[in-house]
Amino acid sequence: MIAQTDLTGTFTLPATSMAVNRMGYGAMQLAGPGVWGPPRDVDGAIAVLRHAVESGVNQIDTSDYYGPHVTNRIIKQALHPYPDGLVIVTKLGARRGADKSWIPALSRQELIDGVHDNLRNLGLDTLDVVNLRVGGFTEPSEGSIEEPLKVLVELKRQGLIRHIGLSNVTPKQLAEGQSLTEIVCVQNFYNVAQRKDDAFIDDLAVQGIAYVPFFPLGGFTPLQSSILNTAAASLQATPMQLALAWLLQRSPNILLIPGTSSLEHLRENLRASTLQIPSEVVANLDSIGKQEKEF
Ligand SMILES: NC(=O)c1ccc[n+]([C@@H]2O[C@H](COP(=O)([O-])OP(=O)(O)OC[C@H]3O[C@@H](n4cnc5c(N)ncnc54)[C@H](OP(=O)(O)O)[C@@H]3O)[C@@H](O)[C@H]2O)c1
Repeated sequence: MIAQTDLTGTFTLPATSMAVNRMGYGAMQLAGPGVWGPPRDVDGAIAVLRHAVESGVNQIDTSDYYGPHVTNRIIKQALHPYPDGLVIVTKLGARRGADKSWIPALSRQELIDGVHDNLRNLGLDTLDVVNLRVGGFTEPSEGSIEEPLKVLVELKRQGLIRHIGLSNVTPKQLAEGQSLTEIVCVQNFYNVAQRKDDAFIDDLAVQGIAYVPFFPLGGFTPLQSSILNTAAASLQATPMQLALAWLLQRSPNILLIPGTSSLEHLRENLRASTLQIPSEVVANLDSIGKQEKEF
């Protein structure tokens, strides 16, 4: 049985003084259904954010296109003025259509407007970390990111952004990004069943760059695996706790941002940071990713 909360030590983003606990929180689930409009329970959303921070979470992932604008405003309502050491990571690269669609927004003006929207809605003068989000819904697509990244570099020079990360990118795009500016983190789709970035994670670990998996619990289609369920039961943990603990054990540069709108799930997820997975169980869990690759 897992009892207490340990946030699994800190990771310092490269070339920064930002040391974050590896167990963070992703705020996307705080908007309404379909990441659109206000949540059904605003007080509940505020309670989730406050409990996360009171428990020691000091990295929150967000975007102004969640809602749109909703999630950032709730973060501000719940936590502003922000405690020292809290790192809010936002992302740019999309906007929402009136039909709730997700539309790429990578033009110079869209990126500039996006930074100002984030600053205003979060109540900040400078954004701690901004991820440039490119590619498709869950998969990166090769191609130059120079044009939009140069805009973020310019905004960094103006003092509106402290640090830059990339989201949904390939190793080649990372290398291109690094030729233009310091990249402190990469946020891609990865979890116990989605292992395409295995080699990329190892390379980023060598470089000291944070890897932040999005959909760590499967996202819109939560993880379902009999192997995961059986292994979790054997450790008196829940499958979601085991999926998170597996990520923490996978590599020291992995930072977690599981999303939830539920206080109960938040508590459960935070407790995952104390779960130690024996090597034979890790080997068993590794077979989930191998099975996925076969399909
Ligand atoms: N860069 C990108 O392109 C990108 C894309 C997607 C997401 N993100 C970021 O990544 C963060 C995490 O992704 P995500 O929230 O979409 O997916 P996720 O963390 O993989 O899973 C969230 C889903 O799992 C459920 N859940 C959470 N904890 C649970 C638990 N202990 N037991 C059972 N169900 C649980 C949540 O429902 P409940 O609310 O009911 O708990 C929600 O449906 C987001 O918040 C966002 O900040 C980034």
